[in-house]
Amino acid sequence: LIMVIGALITARWIVQPIDRLSRTARALGAGELSARSRLARSDEIGELGYRIDEMADRIERLLVTEKELLANVAHELRTPLTRIGVALDLAGEGDSEAARASLAEIAIDIAELETIVDDILTAMRFEVASSEFPLKRAVLPPAEIADAAASRLRARHPSRPFVTNVARDLPAIHVDRVLFRRVIDNLLENAHKYSPDGRAPLSLEVACDAKRVVFEVRDKGIGILTDDLPKVFTAFFRGDKSRSRETGGVGLGLTLAKRIVEAHGGTIEITSKPGEGTNVRVAVPAVD
Ligand SMILES: Nc1ncnc2c1ncn2[C@@H]1O[C@H](COP(=O)(O)OP(=O)(O)OP(=O)(O)O)[C@@H](O)[C@H]1O
Ligand SMILES: [Mg+2]
Repeated sequence: LIMVIGALITARWIVQPIDRLSRTARALGAGELSARSRLARSDEIGELGYRIDEMADRIERLLVTEKELLANVAHELRTPLTRIGVALDLAGEGDSEAARASLAEIAIDIAELETIVDDILTAMRFEVASSEFPLKRAVLPPAEIADAAASRLRARHPSRPFVTNVARDLPAIHVDRVLFRRVIDNLLENAHKYSPDGRAPLSLEVACDAKRVVFEVRDKGIGILTDDLPKVFTAFFRGDKSRSRETGGVGLGLTLAKRIVEAHGGTIEITSKPGEGTNVRVAVPAVD
């Protein structure tokens, strides 16, 4: 009897979990990426199960990310390619006037594609160089960055209500002009893109707070779901509504913004309420 009980205990405690582990590993190997062992044990077998599950989580995330990037880039390419195709057809049919008319739109599409390619390349350079990313820093007045970003937004979206409020006598900041402007451009572009009601106002405020210069971009757009908030800085993450592809984008803007800001010794924070709007604060050290 004792032997039978002993055998049962061994089966329950050792054989079953190991069987579960090997079934999980087999399922993962067969491409069933949602398989997990979910062993709730605090011994070595439990530890092994936990590691396998963790690895599966990571692989699943990576694959999803890669698929999303491909889908997003393909989506971004479609509009300009269609336009170019139409223009070529028109030119082929001898209607060079109509073909020429679409050139301006094609140029805008291509400029947007260039920004995306730039973002992807910069993100990859950051990935490779991590914290050693070479910044071409200069001592600049924050107003210069704010004014440049504001004029760009006004030029791109002339009918959008937009106010800037730049405090006077701000201390200078020591930043890479091109990269830092890219941060503010990305934030303003998001504020515009995720405010589908064209009358919803955006704002850019620049102020000084405890030896830091703070750039704050606000919108009254769709906002971000509380569950999504921690994910928005993850490369290629796009919220559900953005993923429905009414808006263009590949999900790199905030990832890059965070890396650039942190490379400058600064911080970036987002607060948002679905249906009410979003507020992004970028703070960088002021020059003494
Ligand atoms: N101001 C905002 N309001 C609402 N949602 C936002 C806002 N900014 C970002 N998001 C959400 O966070 C996601 C990630 O933003 P991010 O700027 O990184 O990528 P993207 O705008 O989708 O694409 P990209 O910036 O690469 O063109 C967006 O897809 C969107 O769901
Ligand atoms: Mg964006």
